Amino acid sequence: MHDLRLGVIGAGQRSTLAATAHRPGRGCRITAVCDTDPAALTRLPAERTFTDYRDLLESDVDAVLVATPDDTHAEIAVAALRAGKTVYLEKPLAITIDDCDEVLRTAAETGTRLYLGHNMRHMGVVRLMREVVARGEIGVPKTIWVRHFVGRGGEYYFKDWHADRRRTTGLLLQKAAHDIDVIHWLAGGYTERVSAFGDLMVYGDLDRRPPGTPPAEGWLREWPWPPESSTGLHHRIDVEDVSVMNMRLDNGVIAAYQQCHFSPDYWRNYTVIGTRGRLENLGDGPGSVVRVWNSGQSAYREPDATYRVPEAAGGHGGADEAIIEEFLRFARHGGPTDTSPVAARMSVAAGYLATLSLRDGGTPFDVPPLDAATLRYFMPEKLSD
Ligand SMILES: NC(=O)c1ccc[n+]([C@@H]2O[C@H](COP(=O)([O-])OP(=O)(O)OC[C@H]3O[C@@H](n4cnc5c(N)ncnc54)[C@H](O)[C@@H]3O)[C@@H](O)[C@H]2O)c1
Repeated sequence: MHDLRLGVIGAGQRSTLAATAHRPGRGCRITAVCDTDPAALTRLPAERTFTDYRDLLESDVDAVLVATPDDTHAEIAVAALRAGKTVYLEKPLAITIDDCDEVLRTAAETGTRLYLGHNMRHMGVVRLMREVVARGEIGVPKTIWVRHFVGRGGEYYFKDWHADRRRTTGLLLQKAAHDIDVIHWLAGGYTERVSAFGDLMVYGDLDRRPPGTPPAEGWLREWPWPPESSTGLHHRIDVEDVSVMNMRLDNGVIAAYQQCHFSPDYWRNYTVIGTRGRLENLGDGPGSVVRVWNSGQSAYREPDATYRVPEAAGGHGGADEAIIEEFLRFARHGGPTDTSPVAARMSVAAGYLATLSLRDGGTPFDVPPLDAATLRYFMPEKLSD
């Protein structure tokens, strides 16, 4: 079995994921890297380097891993699919619904394999919650609430392109694309209607850098506290640092997602309440716990069951290793995967419309369906009759 020849497009912070895929002689090796910033090209091993992704697509790579800023995903993914390259595309699929649909339509038209980097589906805590739900321990899920505490948000998201809504739509979509997807996965449905509120509360009035200047030395290694003491933010900041989103799913489940970028701690707290109990995670990495209450009603009490998230090594609590394993199998053999291009589109659609809602006084929006032909290509069982 020869190694899959992998081309990496975008070698920034997320190049750690691509490095996981580099295993010469064991099924995959990075043969080409492309980044518009020549300084980034040394971050990964490669036989050839490019600064224009179109040149990389003309090379003999079998597959590409796209980890460029969100606003470039659709253009690069469409070109790669048209070039017949299997695509691993980082989340979010794109920053608008139209762009998502174009990527999916292109995969369907060309028959090229498309895989979405929703690594949270491979996180131990998410898989554990899903198992608890699947075992029926809380009955039928009816409502899901997610609190997303984005500690260090000022450093991670307000010092570069993330802070510019033209490049992300907004941080609600950027960050929650993961969690909306997990909500959909746990609930077994997709959002059909959303509304949201949000604001820029802390990072709008702080010191900014002039356009074209890089973040200061020590960026992403030092963590100013309190958040208002952060300096050298991106020159353009027009995204929200607090957002609160409500969803109604197509199976009747009601869900809520809340995000704050100046929280001291960085983790996600999920609560799923079903007809026979409630689960909640405390901590979201290996060794954290999922608690279940399902033996009767009372005031606050110790849980009826506590499950521990398994130990796992590697990025995002082992999820990065696991998702690369799944991608490499899919690239070689196709077949079903835990991540889903259609689900990725549905999470972006909900996050996109929630962002429009919070910028429009909380107006509710309905999520438009994916066109039937594209849906049939990805999920023939959904439209079999
Ligand atoms: N799944 C996850 O857990 C996870 C975690 C972090 C980031 N991400 C996603 O990964 C992507 C990259 O994020 P990042 O933090 O590495 O960003 P980054 O800014 O650190 O890196 C992006 C890189 O892409 C390069 N680039 C920009 N435009 C390009 C183009 N047209 N062609 C080639 N290279 C180009 C930049 O020079 C930079 O080196 C984003 O879409 C982000 O949402 C996912």
